[in-house]
Amino acid sequence: MIVARTIEDLRLDHASPIGFVPTMGAFHEGHLTLMRRAKASYGSCVVSLFVNPTQFGPREDFANYPRHEERDFELAASAGVDVMFAPSTEDMASETSTRVTVPGVSTRWEGEHRPGHFDGVATVVAKLFHIVRPSDAFFGLKDFQQCAVIRQMVHDLRFPIALHFEETVREMDGLAMSSRNAYLTPDERQAAPLLYRTISEASRQIVDGRPVDESTNDAINALSRGGFSTQYLALVDAETLEPLDALTGASRIIVAAMLGRTRLIDNVAVVPSVAR
Ligand code: PAJ
Repeated sequence: MIVARTIEDLRLDHASPIGFVPTMGAFHEGHLTLMRRAKASYGSCVVSLFVNPTQFGPREDFANYPRHEERDFELAASAGVDVMFAPSTEDMASETSTRVTVPGVSTRWEGEHRPGHFDGVATVVAKLFHIVRPSDAFFGLKDFQQCAVIRQMVHDLRFPIALHFEETVREMDGLAMSSRNAYLTPDERQAAPLLYRTISEASRQIVDGRPVDESTNDAINALSRGGFSTQYLALVDAETLEPLDALTGASRIIVAAMLGRTRLIDNVAVVPSVAR
């Protein structure tokens, strides 16, 4: 695996397809799955590792965000990554004034609770797309709204890039893997799987015909009893992220909740099961 520290170091062969996985490091199976997918489908797999300051709010965890660069490089190499692009903040010129804003899909939910977050994400991903010029890019559905924002941006700015969204990789007990799970105390870690269990149960109830508001209110109450403080929990249209009060077409339950000082997000599809 080649490690490129600057844009100049990054000498990519654009004659063959490039599968690209943008990340902020602290790799877990979720990240590694995206890398293996990119490697399996394409000529070469390029990963970026950049803890992007502009997507963190002033009271968020930029300074404490887990950084394990050497370990990450080893894991990426063993996942078959060809090129690791790990630029400095200066190289990414994060403070420049040009910004990419994706209206509509970025305004609600995460956009409301983390003002400016998606501007930071869209701007850095657009910049990385220009630098790497991949044919394909891979993102995790764990960050469901982020996928919608990137999809909209790629469409609006006409990036010639095929997007691939991969299902959430979970721990054995259902907790979605996340670099931020490292912040949980042992007691919180034990309580954390309730998040996924609760939205899965709400999804089943909605599929079974229970009114959406009853199911989501019950879910918020169950989370509260389990020690979570919910920021939002809603049934949304899977494309537009607009809230739904009844099941129509492709929909998703999305949730963000605090467990102690850790903010967790998750989501599940709401689809009538064939087996029913
Ligand atoms: P990061 O949180 O490091 O995530 C990198 C990629 O891994 C994202 O596409 C994310 O959705 C995916 N991912 C994280 N946890 C996952 C899981 N449990 N299962 C499957 N995929 C998972 O997302 C970012 O970085 C940044 O916002 C970034 C896009 C790199 C822009 O800075």
